[in-house]
Amino acid sequence: MQPTPVRRTICARIPTPEGEYQLCHYVDERNQKEHLALMMGDVTGQDGVLVRVHSECFTGDVLGSQRCDCGEQLHRAMRLIAQEGAGIILYLRQEGRGIGLEQKLRAYNLQDQGYDTVDANLMLGHQADEREYSAAAAMLRDLEVRSIRLMTNNPDKIDRLTGLGIVIVNRIALEPTVTRDNAAYLATKAQRMRHLLNLPMLADGAASLDVALPSQVAGQIESLRQRAAAHFRQHRRPFVTLSYAQSLDGTVGAQEGGPLPLSGPTSLRVTHALRAAHDAILVGIGTVLADDPQLTVRLVEGSHPQPIVVDSHLRCPPQARLLAHPKGLWIAHVGAHTNGLLPAATHLQHAGARLLALPTNAEGQVDLEALLVELGRLGIQSVMVEGGARIIGSLLAHSLAHFAVLTIAPRFVDGRRIPLAGLVGPSIDLLDPAYIQAGQDVMVWSALPHPERQTLQPAPPPTGARPPA
Ligand SMILES: NC(=O)c1ccc[n+]([C@@H]2O[C@H](COP(=O)([O-])OP(=O)(O)OC[C@H]3O[C@@H](n4cnc5c(N)ncnc54)[C@H](OP(=O)(O)O)[C@@H]3O)[C@@H](O)[C@H]2O)c1
Repeated sequence: MQPTPVRRTICARIPTPEGEYQLCHYVDERNQKEHLALMMGDVTGQDGVLVRVHSECFTGDVLGSQRCDCGEQLHRAMRLIAQEGAGIILYLRQEGRGIGLEQKLRAYNLQDQGYDTVDANLMLGHQADEREYSAAAAMLRDLEVRSIRLMTNNPDKIDRLTGLGIVIVNRIALEPTVTRDNAAYLATKAQRMRHLLNLPMLADGAASLDVALPSQVAGQIESLRQRAAAHFRQHRRPFVTLSYAQSLDGTVGAQEGGPLPLSGPTSLRVTHALRAAHDAILVGIGTVLADDPQLTVRLVEGSHPQPIVVDSHLRCPPQARLLAHPKGLWIAHVGAHTNGLLPAATHLQHAGARLLALPTNAEGQVDLEALLVELGRLGIQSVMVEGGARIIGSLLAHSLAHFAVLTIAPRFVDGRRIPLAGLVGPSIDLLDPAYIQAGQDVMVWSALPHPERQTLQPAPPPTGARPPA
């Protein structure tokens, strides 16, 4: 087979919110189609280069259309490359899975009449997917890339590129955000096009986000609200609810980093209802780096809790999605007065974050008890802690949490567990747990033993704590 002739014409520097890239223009000599390579860092002669082979999607990439996950995948890939400092996005001009923009819009109209994305293409006389990747393979060869880690959910793309001689050493998943507008489209991609999407809604085989909440949930949430309000009245500190999902063997996160969706559609909706019942939602910086979560309330009616990240040394990337949260992000750290933190602090404040400077614990990390006192002072009456492993471990080990809502998914997964270093006593025993079946998952709702702290008076101001910037 003749190699596809592509010609690199010109490259230029392109600064973007996700960092500074080189954009190289290519022409496919067979049909004069223009393609692009968006590059960062040194990739020539390298192995394992982070690569996304992205097919143009005007509606998703430019307009941010919610009908598909293209725009999100493009920007997620740019963020991942920026985090790593090197990588390539090949932007191929094959709109609408190769059928062109006009035909794609016709297919959208058919989808609005109830046909799925595959049937709509077939009805218009097209294949389900008409893309081809020989120009991409030729561009990678032109850039002298030896092997790649491909950011994709599409096994067909992996097969086709491999067939074109590209060495793929790893696949990096790009898990999409499921919305009402893209749920059916994503379900079709997973079910009919073999896309490797670990969609929570697919676990129950349902493409609808309108799954009913188990009947006991409303009562449990109301009782939790009452407990939280009573706790705050008495202690002037937030009531802390731990909420996380685990596999049958206790895994909460992927071994190699990146998101590990465990909850099914029903427990996921319950989790969103639980978010809406709290004033704030808190995660550790490890979760931000691994999952880049949004922490909004999307699957039920209700308002977003205030997002908070515990990040001692301000490692939060400026491109983290939480920085675009409608409520603005609060970041708890160990003191902006430390010289080394100043550039990061300035950067995050420019990105809209509010920094809470706190004292350190013995390990030089944020003192979580001092953080709770500070949050109480800021009027936060209830906090839902949604991970990750270490933050939950610290709160449990130091008896700083009052309630736990655990989702247990019917799977065994080799991954990360919650470390309980420093746990006082041999175990923590739940008090009068309630069990709720949520689709295929079991949810455990229980108060946590909370020995001496229940009776403490509000703590004095933490030493070194400064009012939030
Ligand atoms: N299954 C679930 O429901 C669920 C939910 C969320 C996350 N996850 C998973 O959990 C994993 C992330 O967990 P992780 O343990 O790496 O990160 P994490 O618990 O989100 O964050 C841990 C980091 O928080 C910072 N921190 C500051 N003060 C702390 C303190 N007093 N105690 C503990 N940590 C403190 C530390 O970094 P600094 O020292 O830099 O401050 C620490 O490394 C990912 O795999 C994610 O997918 C699972």
